[in-house]
Amino acid sequence: MEYTQQLDTALNRLHEEGRYRTFIDIERRKGNFPHAVWRKPDGTEQQITVWCGNDYLGMGQHPVVLAAMHEALDATGAGSGGTRNISGTTVYHNRLEAELADLHQKEAALLFTSAYIANDATLSTLPKLFPGLIIYSDELNHASMIEGIRRNGGAKRVFRHNDVQHLRELMAADDPKAPKLVAFESVYSMDGDFGPLAELCDAAEEFGALTYLDEVHAVGMYGPRGGGVSERDHLTHRMDIINGTLGKAFGVHGGYIAASAKMCDAIRSYAPGFIFTTSLPPVVAAGAAASIAHLKADATIREQHQTQAKILKTRLKGMGLPLIDHGSHIVPVHVGNPVKCKMLSDMLLEKHGIYVQPINFPTVPRGTERLRFTPSPVHGPREMDALVRAMDDLWSHCALNRAEMSA
Ligand SMILES: Cc1ncc(COP(=O)(O)O)c(C=O)c1O
Repeated sequence: MEYTQQLDTALNRLHEEGRYRTFIDIERRKGNFPHAVWRKPDGTEQQITVWCGNDYLGMGQHPVVLAAMHEALDATGAGSGGTRNISGTTVYHNRLEAELADLHQKEAALLFTSAYIANDATLSTLPKLFPGLIIYSDELNHASMIEGIRRNGGAKRVFRHNDVQHLRELMAADDPKAPKLVAFESVYSMDGDFGPLAELCDAAEEFGALTYLDEVHAVGMYGPRGGGVSERDHLTHRMDIINGTLGKAFGVHGGYIAASAKMCDAIRSYAPGFIFTTSLPPVVAAGAAASIAHLKADATIREQHQTQAKILKTRLKGMGLPLIDHGSHIVPVHVGNPVKCKMLSDMLLEKHGIYVQPINFPTVPRGTERLRFTPSPVHGPREMDALVRAMDDLWSHCALNRAEMSA
């Protein structure tokens, strides 16, 4: 076997399709978000503004979060020193789980090293707990859910995106006595559209199915206390399992599920992705707990975030750019070609110091490549003006169709 040649073939395929991923080496500057320094491959540096981060609220530099992390670091050291079962459960982990259970008004919560692992570990474990389980999954669910469902050995059905009628048809075709679970998201991160949560819960209830909601792109940002879209829409009690991240709006790292005490106990006891891995560092747990507590008590940052998204969307729409707008905080601009998308991203970075990563297949379907902007409360009017001017300039120079697609 020519191993190196095989690797070359695989990598060349990505280059030819224009979807080889290049990481941009940046150094974020605490207290100065969204500004950062780009360390270029030639060794030089350039000041840039980050427009594609998922630290949606700028909590990664919030004094309350940093103070809690400093305190925990000084008190307890660097790592947790073990798995949850073997010396890795600390007062910081327990506090954070209590904070999360309260956030989602559930009996319990369970921490994982990321929301990816939380989805994968939970969904791959559920059929062990409910033999014969059929999982009904929205076709645009995140890779972590797909992966968990794919390798769990149980039955799965994929329903068309947000199509509750299709979901009903699929459930109606299955054995009424079979245990069932419907898995969906509240905010789909690439288009920024919302799942029809109430209708999905109605369908699940009608067919006796459990509900599994990924709130990764909504926790901290929606609902009076940042409990997500399910909280905003008064549907928390209808979600059997809620999945969330601590790495986006909460600005730190890690993931979790919130559910009944029994459900968490069972996942805790059976999921290899929970059991056989070192627990989060206490310092991370302390920062996340402080971030959640702050955002629960104060909606100011949440409101500023929504305002920023509205302003950016209005301004880009006003210029006739092909915006995909479903009313959430995510601002995708359609490009529709991987090479053009990368070229625009490169030009924004090099010419204007604006960093927005091109979003290409497989993250989005081919032909829907886009630039995905994530405005936040730390993007001021100066940054917004610079972005709007740069987009206007680029669209004119590249003779791109301004209204190619809008939803
Ligand atoms: C919908 C969705 N779920 C889960 C995840 C995983 O979250 P984390 O970054 O905490 O692993 C992501 C990641 O970006 C996501 O977009």
